[in-house]
Amino acid sequence: MDQIKIKGGNPLLGEINVSGSKNSSLPILVSSLLTDNQMIISNVPELSDIKSMLNLLQSLNSEFIFSEHEINIKSNKPKRNFADYNLVRKMRASFLVLGPLLARYGNAEVSLPGGCAIGARPINMHLAGLEKLGAEFKIEGGYVKGKVQKGLIGSEINLPFSSVGATENILMAATLASGKTIIKNAAIEPEIENLGDCLIKMGADIRGLGTKRLEIFGKKKLNGCSFSVMPDRIEAGTYVLALLGCSGNLKINNLNKLIIENLKKCLGFFKNLKFEEINKHSLLIESEMLLLDGVSIKTGPFPNFPTDLQAQLTAVLSKSNGVSVIEETIFENRFMHVAELNRMGADINIKGSKVYINGKKKIFGAPVMATDLRASSSLVIAGLMAKGETLISRVYHLDRGYENLEKKLSNCNALIKRLKN
Ligand code: EPZ
Repeated sequence: MDQIKIKGGNPLLGEINVSGSKNSSLPILVSSLLTDNQMIISNVPELSDIKSMLNLLQSLNSEFIFSEHEINIKSNKPKRNFADYNLVRKMRASFLVLGPLLARYGNAEVSLPGGCAIGARPINMHLAGLEKLGAEFKIEGGYVKGKVQKGLIGSEINLPFSSVGATENILMAATLASGKTIIKNAAIEPEIENLGDCLIKMGADIRGLGTKRLEIFGKKKLNGCSFSVMPDRIEAGTYVLALLGCSGNLKINNLNKLIIENLKKCLGFFKNLKFEEINKHSLLIESEMLLLDGVSIKTGPFPNFPTDLQAQLTAVLSKSNGVSVIEETIFENRFMHVAELNRMGADINIKGSKVYINGKKKIFGAPVMATDLRASSSLVIAGLMAKGETLISRVYHLDRGYENLEKKLSNCNALIKRLKN
């Protein structure tokens, strides 16, 4: 298994191009199940999660070509609407095929995704929403078996929590349901809007994108389309946090207005950071080498501080003045990186859904182990900030969500390289 070796202490200097969004690409790939026409999806990052999703779609009789960040995909009628455990367990977003398969074919058997390192991650809201559209489910042998008597029928769905995945599953199913569907308390993460924009290009009638109330007027069929995936805002935020921890200046390209605004909203309060918009796609950020003061931050649904940047911020604050508190409100176990950071000399305590970070003047390189996707990027940032050498193992977690991270950072003055084992 590959490892990543980092010699810490360098400021970050240079230019980084952000790749397309993993969390947009995944549901948009699934939307190809809603039509038998060709779809051309561009700006797709080359990640192991994308490959996992393509393997699953291939098992459902989709054909595709993936080259130069562009996927040309056509979903034919599956021989069996069956999503195997061995494929679904690798990546939770696989569960998004349930809604489209029910909408298109009226039946589906999809493995329960199971938990993962960051939490139990149930799918009750997905099932409840699809039941409101007329689906019937039974759970047998670890599989959700769904069927629809006479086609999905539009309904009003009120999500108890603005679940990203549940919103996406229900939204996709509703595009082919007869009549009008209203989704209340829908998630408003930009990736939902991106999925909605793609569905509209396919001929879906969706109103209210970007708000917590979505109205979908079902159609008999959807067409194919060409669509370019939005930039990855979490990848971009990871670089801003790395810069905050290492100082220097970075020009970050391939952004969009929404991402730039949200990065400034979530990270702009750090007085070390100076943001300068070069144009609507690029941001120049300068970070002074100042020990940060302690902060108190709470993660939350968009546009609040994203849970997907919590581990990275924890790493940055491990070297700071005073005590910081970060409250994780989305997942119940998203602190797997803490033990590894403490092995690097950080002083972080977990109390329930909060971490208390007693900032240190220095942290030190050490051999550490990645445990999940964002924990792995947290360890990369800690390694860049640490005195000495850090060796990160199990970097397959990193490869799920970051395209060429070590190459992009080594092009910006970081002493980081991948050891192929
Ligand atoms: C999406 O996961 C993202 N994944 C996650 O990114 C992200 O952290 C999360 O949204 C929150 O923003 C993709 O888009 C592929 P949720 P998802 O449904 O859809 C609970 C990354 O690092 N819940 O909004 O699974 C759930 O357990 C990944 O790129 C239920 O209880 O997130 C969690 O505590 C990690 N029942 C909370 O809601 C349900 O039916 C948020 O989950 C559904 C969710």
